[in-house]
Amino acid sequence: MTTRSTQKMSKYLPTDQRPGIIYHGDCNHLLAELPDGCIDLCLTDPPYGINFKSKVKRVAKFKRPGFRKIANDKTPYTVWLADLYRVMAPGGRLICFYRWDVQEQFAEAIRAAGFKLKDQLIWDKMAHGTGDLKGGFGSQHELMFYAVKGRYTWKGKRPKTVFRHMKVNSQNLTHPNEKPLALLDDLIGCCSTPGETVGDLFGGSYKTLQAALLMGRKCVTSELGDVEHQNGLARLQKTNLQTRIQLISA
Ligand SMILES: C[S@@+](CC[C@H](N)C(=O)[O-])C[C@H]1O[C@@H](n2cnc3c(N)ncnc32)[C@H](O)[C@@H]1O
Repeated sequence: MTTRSTQKMSKYLPTDQRPGIIYHGDCNHLLAELPDGCIDLCLTDPPYGINFKSKVKRVAKFKRPGFRKIANDKTPYTVWLADLYRVMAPGGRLICFYRWDVQEQFAEAIRAAGFKLKDQLIWDKMAHGTGDLKGGFGSQHELMFYAVKGRYTWKGKRPKTVFRHMKVNSQNLTHPNEKPLALLDDLIGCCSTPGETVGDLFGGSYKTLQAALLMGRKCVTSELGDVEHQNGLARLQKTNLQTRIQLISA
């Protein structure tokens, strides 16, 4: 007999035959459909709550319009963490990007969800961004929290806390917060093993999904925005991964 939970598993959980799932909708709805303990590594980049608007301009040459504001970015977006804890496997790892000025809110929410906060990780982007050109430092790094559900011990070499990878050139961005594949490879490589399931609730360009599949992991990801979803799909079309990905719309 097929129970409701096995039906759910077959629809929203990636499998060896269909290792990539893209859910176009709200990550909280996706989480509600996922069974307990199914994600080994959640590598994600939520809205920080800083009302971010990219200064990267429209690139006519590449037929790319300017970027709009990020959804749910008015206050630190942490509501998903409680249900994420439920769907993480024992020993499941969370890598969550955040910004320095919302550090306390993210740390508190990660702990309140039940995770053990272990480390702060730094991505050195090897080139600075824009910001306050006259009165602020040229920001060259991004921050991540590393947290665990219970305990996880390294399967390979103990990783260091600084990751050095060139950021994506602004002309090549398909999403204002797009991360480079090499950084995601590095993070997925040290914090998961082949065959494990990676989750990214805030898919954006779907780079995490791409990196995970190329590294022999399964991946489930969600993206709320229509424009971001379409741009992410268009980018994935240039890879040869489409046959391994299933799209589910809310
Ligand atoms: C900081 S960006 C992630 C960018 C991504 N790391 C990349 O490399 O492209 C956050 C994304 O989360 C999406 N988002 C906001 N609220 C969401 C929600 N409730 N469920 C799913 N996606 C959401 C936004 O549309 C945005 O694209």
